[in-house]
Parts: sequence; structure tokens; C-alpha cells
Amino acid sequence: MSVHKEITKVTTNTLLVMKQQGEKISMLTAYDFSMARILDDAGIDVLLVGDSASNVMAGHETTLPITLDQMIYHAQSVVRAISRCLVVVDLPFGTYQGNSKEALNSAIRIMKETGAHAIKLEGGEEVVDSIKRIISAGVPVMGHLGLTPQSIYKFGTYAVRAKEEAEAEVLVKNARLLEEAGCFSIVLEKIPAALGKRVAEEVKIPIIGIGAGGGVDGQVLVMHDMLGINKEFSPRFLRRYLNMYDQIKTATEHYIQDVKSKDFPNEKEQY
Ligand code: KIV
Repeated sequence: MSVHKEITKVTTNTLLVMKQQGEKISMLTAYDFSMARILDDAGIDVLLVGDSASNVMAGHETTLPITLDQMIYHAQSVVRAISRCLVVVDLPFGTYQGNSKEALNSAIRIMKETGAHAIKLEGGEEVVDSIKRIISAGVPVMGHLGLTPQSIYKFGTYAVRAKEEAEAEVLVKNARLLEEAGCFSIVLEKIPAALGKRVAEEVKIPIIGIGAGGGVDGQVLVMHDMLGINKEFSPRFLRRYLNMYDQIKTATEHYIQDVKSKDFPNEKEQY
């Protein structure tokens, strides 16, 4: 029997057991009540209230503008919807880097005001002090290495990271540091599959990949991408399970047509 089927509430420990038993972890992003309810009902293991809300919910070009208050609003909506999955919330840009006290305060606000179960933040050695301080207050932390979108202006591109050996070695070192600091899991974004597999083998905590190949312990996608709500974003790692952009557009066109032609509402659809 898989761990997935046995459990009624996913915890950070459940994810560890899944890794130990070779069961892959499923994770998606969510930002609102209605979608979170469907994803939780479907049996998703982890919902990430990602700062990708800045892109897909608010229409910003990067994840940098979203605020802690806005992340808290999204997380509250998601937490109200779920009964089984683990909810992880991104600390947004500017709320944890370079100041571990501020990092702790940001994490505490998320835990107190949303009821979420854990936070995620981006970076390696440079954020280890913040990670340790947050964990010492009892808040579980998920790390995020590889392509870290909050540093997009440093990278200058959304291209695959750590293709060169030097950067790959730094990534492996950082993954070990995050594990030692006490992170319960790490997201690896857009790196070579062989490197993803190597990290998953070298650390004991679950590694969740997005564009990091099949050798890691679980997969995460941005919900809007996997449901095809976006048309313009088509990276190689993305598998689309629906074409919701066209489906919603067609349904809306039918609705407009029905209103204009006075077909809607008909006699049964009124009082
Ligand atoms: O914000 C987000 O959606 C993320 C995922 C890409 C992992 O961090």
C-alpha cells in the first residue's frame, strides 16, 4: 500500500517516508480557495502558495513585486480549502534576505495569519542564517536552488542553471548545507536531470523538481501552466494536462452569443 493512500494528513514526515519508500511526491501551486479545493480533493500531496502568484495571478513580469500581505491573502484562501495536503508558502522577495530576524518575523506572520504548515525560501549559503533562525522557532523550511526566480536580474536569463561543473558543485554543496541547516525538503528548478538525480541521492531529505528530471523524489508544476491556462509559457519541462485557455475562451464565446441572441436565460432559468 502506498503512503499516499494510507494517510489522512500529509506532514513533512510523510514526505520523508515517501522518499524512503520510493514513492514520488506530487506538488502543485495554488493561490485561491476554489482551485485549492479541487487539487486537494484529487489527492495532491503538497500545495505551494508560490510567489509565482505575482506572475499568474497579478500579471507581473517577475516574482519580485508580490508583498508579504499579498502572499498571506493567497495562503489564507488556500488553507481554508484543504483537508489533506501539506501547504507550503513562499517568503516573497525582500522579506528574508540578509536579515535573519526579519526572515523569522516574515515566517511567523505566515504561520500565525494563514494556518499554513511550512514556508519556502530561495537560496543557499547566503540564506542559511535565516533558515536556521526560522527552524529554531519551530517553522519547517523548504529550500529552493537552481533557477531561483527572485534572483532573475542577477542571472539575466531564465535558461537552465548549473550546466557547468563549477556551478553544479556549488549547487550540491548548497543542498548539503540546507539539509544540515534542517530544511525538510528542497525544490530544484531547471537544472540538468543528472544533477537533480545526484542531489536526490546525496541528501536524505526529499528533493522536488521542476525541470530537474525524473531522478528526483517528486515533481512540482505551476498550476496555471499544467492546466494550460497560459498559452505563452512552453518550457521543455512542462506537460500540459488541459487546454483551459481555449476551453474557457470557447465557453465565454458561447455565453456571449447566448446573451446577445436572448437564448439565455430561457424560461427554466428564471423565476
Ligand atoms: O513560486 C513558485 O511557483 C515556485 C515553483 C516554481 C516551485 O517556486
